[in-house]
Amino acid sequence: MSIDLPSISDDTALLDPAERWSVDELRAHQLARLQETVARAYEHVPHYRKALADKGVHPSEIRSLDDLQLLPFTTKADLRDNYPFGMFAVPREGVVRVHASSGTTGKATVVGYTRADIDTWASLVARSLVAAGIRPGDLVQVSYGYGLFTGGLGAHYGAERLGCTVIPMSGGQTDKQIELLRDFGARGIMVTPSYFLAVLDEMTARGIDPRELPLAVGVFGAEPWTDAMRAEIEQRAGMHAVDIYGLSEVMGPGVAQECVATKDGLHIWEDHFYPEVIDPITEQPVADGEVGELVFTSLTKQALPILRYRTRDLTRLLPGTARPGMRRMEKVTGRTDDLMIVRGVNVFPTQIEEIVLGMPGLTPHFQCVLTRPDRLDELTVRVEGAPGLSEARRADLGAELARTIKARIGSSARVEVLPEGGIERSVGKARRILDQR
Ligand code: DLL
Repeated sequence: MSIDLPSISDDTALLDPAERWSVDELRAHQLARLQETVARAYEHVPHYRKALADKGVHPSEIRSLDDLQLLPFTTKADLRDNYPFGMFAVPREGVVRVHASSGTTGKATVVGYTRADIDTWASLVARSLVAAGIRPGDLVQVSYGYGLFTGGLGAHYGAERLGCTVIPMSGGQTDKQIELLRDFGARGIMVTPSYFLAVLDEMTARGIDPRELPLAVGVFGAEPWTDAMRAEIEQRAGMHAVDIYGLSEVMGPGVAQECVATKDGLHIWEDHFYPEVIDPITEQPVADGEVGELVFTSLTKQALPILRYRTRDLTRLLPGTARPGMRRMEKVTGRTDDLMIVRGVNVFPTQIEEIVLGMPGLTPHFQCVLTRPDRLDELTVRVEGAPGLSEARRADLGAELARTIKARIGSSARVEVLPEGGIERSVGKARRILDQR
């Protein structure tokens, strides 16, 4: 079904000069910045001095962007091993802020920013917001969590930098979210897509039509979501839904951003982050256009320069469109950690999401539960049915979903269609996989 979405004014006058660089200009800046970054990491971070020495490479040998391949990778384990501040390239006193991500096991990974880093970050989130269709003077509700997570504060500083009026709502308190959306009338919201769906459900339950609100743009990220989810949100809320990507180790939100004009994947802010895609097994770079694991090298960060960080996110690099000089990354299909191998068949939660969203009668709230009865892995997809369905109807939908999963993905899954409220809502990143093996 096609719907009328709010019109978005032209952004040409708001572009950062770097967004207009030719590819040659961009590559020249990238090389100079890469050389500085490698030198800084080598001189000030013992971990990198050793890692470069182990690889037998000296910063003076980085003479072209291809020489990136001489450099060692960095992983989350390297950050953990240097917990909390061992990866910093400046004295701790020069770090004006830290953030941390918890992860599922062990110690948090800690990241730090100098004043200049915070400034760069704010300007990149502001640039991202322009691409998303937010304009100076807009009211923006920030519903990413504030705190150690980079989502809330990262979004906040960027929206302020652009000249917006920021409502620092943070995640949770769904009633309050709705009250402020109605009373203050934000034009933009920054929030995880899964939590925004929970907010929309609550509006519907209370008889509020989200399409009547002034909301025009949602800047959704921090977790994988599909084009099917975009269609669902745009249709239900009558607003544009665009994707923002980032990760703490590389900066936070605003590493890459989808342009509202094209909605065709995310432009990577390559003047600050150099992307590669590698085969996660052989660790060799793959050609642009091929799917693999995304790897980033920071080009301007002071407190935490990071070389070839293995994100574990799967995507591919594509040529620029709305920002011709900068390459795009396709929407992330999942993380290498999220790959479920069920009796030899590879399944990502995003594949389940697409199918669920294509079936009327099911809601987008679902979870994949992995168990191992009788030494064989079993996948159970638990999904919530639309409000008010009979038990018999839910059973029918379950059988149909199981058939579709088998036909499209090739995997035999058990399916449970639960009554309304059967799937736990998260106020931040959704937990799509429950591993009970
Ligand atoms: O999630 C930063 C962020 C906040 C991005 C708000 C966008 C909006 P971390 O908590 O360190 O940082 O988690 C980073 O989240 O490696 C991806 O696996 C996932 N992720 C982030 N954005 C997207 C996205 C923030 N747009 C990890 N699509 C990343 C898919 C995403 N996955």
